[in-house]
Amino acid sequence: MIDCIKKYSIVTWGCQMNEHDSEKMSGILESLGYESTNIKEEADLIIFNTCLVRENAELKVYGNLGELKALKRDKPDLIIGICGCMMQKEEIRDFIKDKYRFVDIIFGTHNIHKLPELLANHNLTTRMIIDVWEDGGNIIEGIPAKRKYDYKAFVNIMYGCNNFCSYCIVPYTRGREKSREANDIVKEIKMLANEGCKEVTLLGQNVNSYGKSLESKTTFAELLYLINDIEGIERIRFMTSHPKDLSDELIYAIRDCDKVCEHIHLPFQAGSDRILKLMNRKYTKSQYLNLIEKIKSEIPDISLTTDIIVGFPGETEEDFLETIDVVKKVKFDSAFTFLYSIREGTPAANMDNQISDEIKHERLKKLLEVLNPISNENNLKLLDTVQEVLVEDTSKTDDTVLSGRTRTNKLVHFKGEKSLIGKIVNVHIVNTKTWTLEGNVISKK
Ligand code: 5AD
Ligand code: SF4
Repeated sequence: MIDCIKKYSIVTWGCQMNEHDSEKMSGILESLGYESTNIKEEADLIIFNTCLVRENAELKVYGNLGELKALKRDKPDLIIGICGCMMQKEEIRDFIKDKYRFVDIIFGTHNIHKLPELLANHNLTTRMIIDVWEDGGNIIEGIPAKRKYDYKAFVNIMYGCNNFCSYCIVPYTRGREKSREANDIVKEIKMLANEGCKEVTLLGQNVNSYGKSLESKTTFAELLYLINDIEGIERIRFMTSHPKDLSDELIYAIRDCDKVCEHIHLPFQAGSDRILKLMNRKYTKSQYLNLIEKIKSEIPDISLTTDIIVGFPGETEEDFLETIDVVKKVKFDSAFTFLYSIREGTPAANMDNQISDEIKHERLKKLLEVLNPISNENNLKLLDTVQEVLVEDTSKTDDTVLSGRTRTNKLVHFKGEKSLIGKIVNVHIVNTKTWTLEGNVISKK
């Protein structure tokens, strides 16, 4: 029998925003009758959803694209599409047009809903189809998403960013801040709850400024209260928060909404006031530390995670020590650490005193030497406690071992039946490591 069902494969780089965009593309493709495959050789359509936030993400895309050339040679009907942040840059589109002429379809971050039309047009032409929207359109509602898990889901609450941190390309690729109407968000989450979803992660580049672009001016705190009332939803997470917009009202909402998990991801990026100013972050070290104090005093069991950049242009050893000082004072549960990466088109790319790779790596190493023992210490405090865990998966190496996350977003491993996946259980923690906890299930919710 000839298998006539078309298969697709999507490769995703970058943040949760991209991951969720890929879920939406999967939803669109499956509504067109495509089936997903992880095997590229089997695919009739391969889409690369790209990231531009750091150079290494960009280079990986070019490397992987090169590998597709041979596939296309063996299977000329294979359709290759590229989308995501890289495609919002004209120079990159031109480079792809020139160097990767076997690519069939290029589209951007604002028009993934046009995928069916682009595929139909592809059937009518042998030329590369390029359709990238600049920012400015309305939010497109109602795109079906094929979510990776039934019991947890990403939900966009806003798109874009107005902050223009001087190192960051995102405002240029994702456009200006636009919030979804609270009604649309609540409707989507109610539908998810009806389908058995227990945990939602609200996504936005700066969720704390949610609502500013809406006529209703609904605040993020108000949105949390609305979602907290949705029956069936048991956990609410959100990311990312900007320290300059994290209001008292929001801290109280996190404290008072029982479903909002005790975890805030609050990037501080750098500890030196001089560097923070050059980064255009709009807060000082002491303002950040005061904010952390306030959060900790209102929500004592809060888990705090962050993003840190080392080697921003002009960063001296003294500046770097201010970063280390913040880490020691806050005692983060974990951190994403980045070497500053020049992004053409951002103000920092043209700043003097770019830091050498050698110094960046040295600083990163020193930073991790401070961060890791603190993560370990924080986890050690959980020894012999009982943690509520949403069971997510089996371990990659042993399928009698399950993994899940605490409300504070810590990964826990424990023995158990696969039937527990998607359920919330109580786990007694019997061992802790720097990145994970181990325990025994003591009861189900
Ligand atoms: N270089 C290094 N890290 C960066 N980030 C954003 N832009 C850059 C860059 N040019 C980091 C920031 C941000 C996270 C998502 O990526 O820390 O919070
Ligand atoms: Fe980039 Fe800053 Fe916006 Fe975050 S807040 S997406 S780091 S510009």
